[in-house]
Amino acid sequence: MRKLHVKSYGCQMNVYDANRMTDLLTSDSSYVETGALEEADLVILNTCHIREKAAEKVYSELGRIRQLKREATRAGRHLIVAVAGCVAQAEGEEIVRRAPVVDVVVFCTFCVVPYTRGAEASRPVAAIVAEVENLARAGVREVTLIGQNVNAYHGRAEDGGQATLGGLLNRLADVAGVLRLRYTTSHPRDVDEDLVAAHRDLAVLMPQLHLPVQSGSDRVLAAMNRRHTRAEYLDVVARLRTVRPDIAFTSDFIVGFPGETEEDFIDTLRIVEDVGFAGAFSFKYSPRPGTPAAERGDQIADEVKRERLARLQERIDHHQRAFNRSCAGRKLEVLFEKPGRIAGQLVGRSAYLQPVQVMAPTSLIGQIATVRITDLGSNSLFGELERAEARDQALAGTGG
Ligand code: 5AD
Repeated sequence: MRKLHVKSYGCQMNVYDANRMTDLLTSDSSYVETGALEEADLVILNTCHIREKAAEKVYSELGRIRQLKREATRAGRHLIVAVAGCVAQAEGEEIVRRAPVVDVVVFCTFCVVPYTRGAEASRPVAAIVAEVENLARAGVREVTLIGQNVNAYHGRAEDGGQATLGGLLNRLADVAGVLRLRYTTSHPRDVDEDLVAAHRDLAVLMPQLHLPVQSGSDRVLAAMNRRHTRAEYLDVVARLRTVRPDIAFTSDFIVGFPGETEEDFIDTLRIVEDVGFAGAFSFKYSPRPGTPAAERGDQIADEVKRERLARLQERIDHHQRAFNRSCAGRKLEVLFEKPGRIAGQLVGRSAYLQPVQVMAPTSLIGQIATVRITDLGSNSLFGELERAEARDQALAGTGG
């Protein structure tokens, strides 16, 4: 049987799309999946265009694949190379010109970055419920709703009206077997009362929210066309903390947007202190072809971007460590995912998405147990199963 290797870059929408491509190509037994690029008859690179580095990665991977294709041809095999995702969308035929090794360029039909994927679309509630019910029946315990602006969701409700994300979450909270719900990525402007109420009412909705702010300066936020101010962002955070005091926020930041002054940047540092994020991704602004900001004459010098990024990351790390420290000694619910770093250990995720390493039997994979946090690593927490849980497990293990 022919072998398929799919490599996905970038965001969670791409991961989802890559899984769907794999499902489609393997469901009628046209292909079987392989983790080894060298064995593949069809390679699909599902690409990301968000920053220049992401796009360039694809071309260096294509360089490697050119070598493999030569070897395959010599061995009498035909290797098909396809490029899908956002680089394909943005650069199209240009890819084939720059990398003749590519046989197929796929255009996306799903929404991600407006420039590469077009306007967002909302699937009907019934279709999402059916998909989640299927997943739950197959043993899935945690579901993350994904979309570039997932909280702008406005799909058809089951009664024919229009649903909000809050409404959808309420509906999904009733699906048997689903123990945890999340959604990502959200826009601060689209956090409405339904969504706040969902965080108040639904125990299965996890107390962690990725809410990109990008900048703490109103001037820069306006220039970015973000359509929210610093005060509005802080207000959203406050409203969610009122109904769910233990909610942890993570965020994304861009430093060195065209025209960003030292004062603007200090406003960004201030919002890190004001919110106390549990973690954040931060990036130097990368001019992207075709976007208005790339045309501006007031681009920031790379040394300035680098210096601001280092200062920002120092503060983000400080707050992330403080948040993790605040978990020490606490009892956290952990959903176990897979074997951990050392023998006998499992790794799972806390409600706040932190990886937690615990000595635990493999029978706990796919289940939630209470763990007492004993120690902090650089990227994960360490803990011990609560005694009751450990005893139940031992009894289950001996058939008692
Ligand atoms: N330059 C740098 N970072 C960017 N992001 C989006 N566009 C750019 C760009 N041109 C960052 C934002 C976004 C994250 C996914 O990538 O912070 O939230």
